[in-house]
Amino acid sequence: MLRDEFDAILVGALGDPRVADGRHARDILLGIRFELDLYVNYRPVVLFDARLCPLKGRGPSDIDIAIFRENTEGVYVGVGGRVKPGTEDEIAIQEDVNTWKGVHRIVRYAFEWARAHRRARVCMTDKSNAMAQGHALWQRVFREVAPEFPDIQATHQYIDALVLQMVRDPAQFDVIVTNNLFGDIITDLGAALQGGLGMAASANVHPGRTSMFEPVHGSAPPLAGKNVANPMGAVLSAGLMLATLGLAEEAEAIEHAVRHVVAAGIGTPDIGGTQGTTEVGDAVVSAIVASQHGQVSPKDSGAWGLEPGPAGSSASPGGRE
Ligand code: IPM
Ligand code: MG
Repeated sequence: MLRDEFDAILVGALGDPRVADGRHARDILLGIRFELDLYVNYRPVVLFDARLCPLKGRGPSDIDIAIFRENTEGVYVGVGGRVKPGTEDEIAIQEDVNTWKGVHRIVRYAFEWARAHRRARVCMTDKSNAMAQGHALWQRVFREVAPEFPDIQATHQYIDALVLQMVRDPAQFDVIVTNNLFGDIITDLGAALQGGLGMAASANVHPGRTSMFEPVHGSAPPLAGKNVANPMGAVLSAGLMLATLGLAEEAEAIEHAVRHVVAAGIGTPDIGGTQGTTEVGDAVVSAIVASQHGQVSPKDSGAWGLEPGPAGSSASPGGRE
């Protein structure tokens, strides 16, 4: 139904502590990502104000990283099993599935996005020194695709080195492309660099098809019902949705409004503010309305959304337009 009857899906944070292992969150989110084949998980790590960054002396010009996480393969496929569960002889196997097609389409998308958004560098991160089978495939594909983009510098870092560098010198990164699990982990680190999970937005995309947009954070049960949850990650995800639907101006209006509200020092307690969820939401709406009346000058953008996205080759021929 989601695939056939909707142009896009905006998912609110979900998860409930009464479901012990978070199974429903996993089933719904991963279910949508896998069943709709949303192979691009785009998570922009953008710092709107130096005050939000936990790193000493870093500002917006240092932290502006587009992370592309492969979203349909890896250890997330659920291939494996357990033998003799609950005994001391238990064996648990969780396979890491990497296919040429799967790796190729996400690596290519990252390069095409970099080109379309005039980014200088794409860094592929893996653990090919230890995972000599699956990540050898990532190495091969990266070597195959990179020469098609001579205008973009292709670099590689092992994942352990990369997390160190993201903290030590985040300015070196423009675009990062990686597998599902490493992408999950480094986008939480990225969220910390931009002010916390409350600020982080994401897009789950298959070009030309119904795609899904969600904040990176979960439902944060301790915050529920207290009017303290930061709405910005969800609001920015709605912006990514509009950008992907081709509504560039509307998407920019949302991004600019959030920037404006952050710059004005308005925010929930997680980013050092004193406002509630509702007040922050209202402030974003007011900033959008004010910008329509020319009271807030729109500034340059284009660094944020997926549009204008990579042309052509990533789109599936069978995809809906
Ligand atoms: C995320 C989340 C999910 C993931 C969980 C809830 C299954 O951590 O979207 O980053 O691992 O992908
Ligand atoms: Mg995660």
